[in-house]
Amino acid sequence: MFDSIAPRYDLLNHVLSVGLDQKWRRRAVRELQLGAVPRVLDLCTGTADLAFAAVEHHAGASVVGVDFSGAMLRFGLGKVRRANMSGRIRLVRGDATRIPLANASCDAGTIGFGIRNVAEPQRALAELGRVLRPGARLAILEFGQPRIPGIRTLYTWYFRYLLPAIGKLVSRHRSAYSYLPASVGTFPPPAEFAKTIESHGFVSVRAVPLTFGIVYLYVATRR
Ligand SMILES: C[S@@+](CC[C@H](N)C(=O)[O-])C[C@H]1O[C@@H](n2cnc3c(N)ncnc32)[C@H](O)[C@@H]1O
Repeated sequence: MFDSIAPRYDLLNHVLSVGLDQKWRRRAVRELQLGAVPRVLDLCTGTADLAFAAVEHHAGASVVGVDFSGAMLRFGLGKVRRANMSGRIRLVRGDATRIPLANASCDAGTIGFGIRNVAEPQRALAELGRVLRPGARLAILEFGQPRIPGIRTLYTWYFRYLLPAIGKLVSRHRSAYSYLPASVGTFPPPAEFAKTIESHGFVSVRAVPLTFGIVYLYVATRR
């Protein structure tokens, strides 16, 4: 699915979120509290927007982006080359449940709108626990559901009906943008997901609602 929507993925992200997606990524990166020359892992990196947010935020940071979609990575690689960032962003094809990196080799980790798509999220969290060094910060962005009743109703209408229609028209993929609300609907509530993160070797786990809870930012520290 991600291979076939890759050409329009960035455009749709920015349009469907009215530009908020970049703001959410920048917020996630700020929570990493990066040290001098940090090595950041961006899991499910897709077209590398979160990797870019990390290197733009911190002049000394380098990022390894891992994703299993060759087409998403190709678009990401094009962006990396055009921005002359090959020395700071490296993109690697790999599975989130078998991260191709050594134990405790990363100073921070991120996942942007990816954990919901991983078939075995528990294994991906266990892998993050393995590759992040003790004390490393983890920031995960994932969609949520607004808590304020009026906003929730409006947003639900947008997310269930308008977004899939625009997504289908622009991406020309029959179901990818109907899958989005469906998968968000089955993702665990914030408190439950925070507990899942904790159970994989992380402490000080927080679930921070962004933009009325449309998105949640999960922040944690590797024990
Ligand atoms: C919605 S995109 C998010 C891309 C990017 N992080 C962003 O912020 O826009 C989800 C990505 O997760 C990747 N993905 C899903 N399951 C994966 C897995 N098991 N291993 C690696 N990548 C995976 C998909 O290929 C896709 O690029």
